[in-house]
Amino acid sequence: AATLDELARRHGRYFGSAVDNPELTDAAYAELLGREFGTTTPGNGMKWYATEPRRGVFDFTAGDEIVSYARAHHLKVRGHTLLWHSQLPGWLTSGTWTADELRAILKNHITQVVKHYRGKVFAWDVANEIMSEDGTYRENLFYRTLGPGYIADALRWARAADPKAKLYLNDYNVEDIGAKSDAYYTLIKRLKADGVPVDGFGMQAHLALQYGFPGRLPQNVQRFADLGVDVALTELDIRMALPADTAKLAQQADWYGRVTGACLAVKRCVGITVWGYSDRHSWIPSTFPGEGAALPWDENLRHKPAYDAIRQALTAA
Ligand code: G3I
Repeated sequence: AATLDELARRHGRYFGSAVDNPELTDAAYAELLGREFGTTTPGNGMKWYATEPRRGVFDFTAGDEIVSYARAHHLKVRGHTLLWHSQLPGWLTSGTWTADELRAILKNHITQVVKHYRGKVFAWDVANEIMSEDGTYRENLFYRTLGPGYIADALRWARAADPKAKLYLNDYNVEDIGAKSDAYYTLIKRLKADGVPVDGFGMQAHLALQYGFPGRLPQNVQRFADLGVDVALTELDIRMALPADTAKLAQQADWYGRVTGACLAVKRCVGITVWGYSDRHSWIPSTFPGEGAALPWDENLRHKPAYDAIRQALTAA
């Protein structure tokens, strides 16, 4: 049978999964990842704490491991992420920096990392989670020190370091139309008008059954496409209160199918990445105690109803 990525490719899309470095030693898991998916995203391996653990000293071990795994299995790699408020190295968060110092640090980080992965990473989450829920800029280290212009600077530095990589802004809770996605809509519109290189908007899509389906996802994807950027669903998972039961798994399957269909309905929605593909390895149980079962494969790497629903959406459209 065709893989999810093969089915997605019939529509000109990709289907990918994140992977964290330690998971590559799980042979059965790594084998299925390499067979079923067309792209992968390092769950942690390219983050700032991993790539620049000391100021000006770069360590590409973790990211390189994923790139070489991906190459061996013919997967493309989404880079994640150049700039985020979380998982920054201690030297950066504990320092006090003038604007000039921090600007130079950020420019060097982006330049070195993007250059290292030039030709190996097809898209970068340049800036991750830079907006608050109310649609104001998140008060992260960069905003506090540099003001909002750091976002355009980051995009320009990334473009200069790899003119071919697609450059994304990426966030969660932006799947529906609302204050936070409106803020990205306004920002991307202005960046485009100013000639700043931005190619895509990443909707993480960490969904949860108890919060309801983002009902205007299709219209939201469409409005970003209409701005002239690609859209990608970058970190899809759909969690539930444990224990899972038949009804919850059926609802989850329905949601996976609807998300897949929403992407297929808009030409500029270029692909879907699940944040890990199986309940065996997932960030959710440790972050949201009592929740989980969020992925289309179960802990034994067997298909769940969600897998069948994705497949059906990819073959029906
Ligand atoms: O590296 C240390 C290790 O030395 C230590 O022994 C161990 C003990 O807890 O922790 C390890 O660090 C963990 C790290 O992943 C690497 O495994 C952190 O505790 C853990 O919090 C961290 O979680 C990651 C999380 O980002 C951090 O916010 C998840 O694996 C990763 O999947 C998750 O990914 C994020 C995206 O980047 C952005 N969007 C949301 C998404 C889910 O939170």
